[in-house]
Amino acid sequence: MKIALIGYGKMGKEIESIAIGRGHEIILKVGAQQSKSISTEILRQADAAIEFSSPECAYSNIMNCFQAGVPVVCGTTGWLHRLEEVKTACHRSENAFFYASNFSIGVNIFFELNLYLAKIMNAYGEYEPLLEEIHHIHKKDSPSGTGITIAEGIIRELNRKNEWKEGSTHSPSVLAIHSKREGEVPGTHKVIYRSDVDDIEITHTAHNRKGFALGAVHAAEWIQGKKGTFGMNDMLGFGKQ
Ligand SMILES: NC(=O)c1ccc[n+]([C@@H]2O[C@H](COP(=O)([O-])OP(=O)(O)OC[C@H]3O[C@@H](n4cnc5c(N)ncnc54)[C@H](OP(=O)(O)O)[C@@H]3O)[C@@H](O)[C@H]2O)c1
Repeated sequence: MKIALIGYGKMGKEIESIAIGRGHEIILKVGAQQSKSISTEILRQADAAIEFSSPECAYSNIMNCFQAGVPVVCGTTGWLHRLEEVKTACHRSENAFFYASNFSIGVNIFFELNLYLAKIMNAYGEYEPLLEEIHHIHKKDSPSGTGITIAEGIIRELNRKNEWKEGSTHSPSVLAIHSKREGEVPGTHKVIYRSDVDDIEITHTAHNRKGFALGAVHAAEWIQGKKGTFGMNDMLGFGKQ
């Protein structure tokens, strides 16, 4: 498969190494400096574009790929207020778009556990849930896209929470998300149900970025020949989140 890498930072480089290891060819690497002069001719030759850039430019990068007729796998977080526009453009151009706030298999198992636990906790109102996410100090968005997916899962399944808020809250219907930025942490997410007598915690700790990169390359392989918009549940066959 010929892959265009849009965004060539920590994730782009990790994806490059995994893609080459799986026998793929990287035909284009685009960083901030090159983004204005992306060669449509070269982009058109790609079987897939993998987009891990920054919240400010993800939307226009995706649109450029659609214009070139190239399927897009996107992992950039912090731009999702424009997701519906992207989905519409994808359908209109009869292209394929795969988005995941987190491409790691482990995190997607964690998403399922989170939903299951939230369902159980409907019967135990004495437990107050909260979410903690820790990432490296270079991360631009907060809370993390993964944290938002986890929070949305809790809100969907736990009747006593209707919305999330970053920071502390005294409102019983609001789920608190605490974001911390420390050193070079690749990504830690913790859901805690706290009561006077005990705490229940589930945690996912990424040890490095390989899991995200492998998931993105798998998605680029999986999306070949498909049209429409997809996510990890489609690829992994988990129930809808
Ligand atoms: N979904 C997941 O599983 C997952 C996992 C990890 C990270 N992420 C997300 O992926 C994104 C990238 O993370 P990262 O750790 O790789 O960040 P990073 O190291 O800061 O790299 C970002 C890259 O994007 C490039 N860039 C900036 N503007 C661009 C533009 N207009 N067009 C193309 N490229 C542009 C930067 O270029 P320069 O180097 O020239 O500035 C840099 O190479 C973030 O949004 C992060 O939250 C998602």
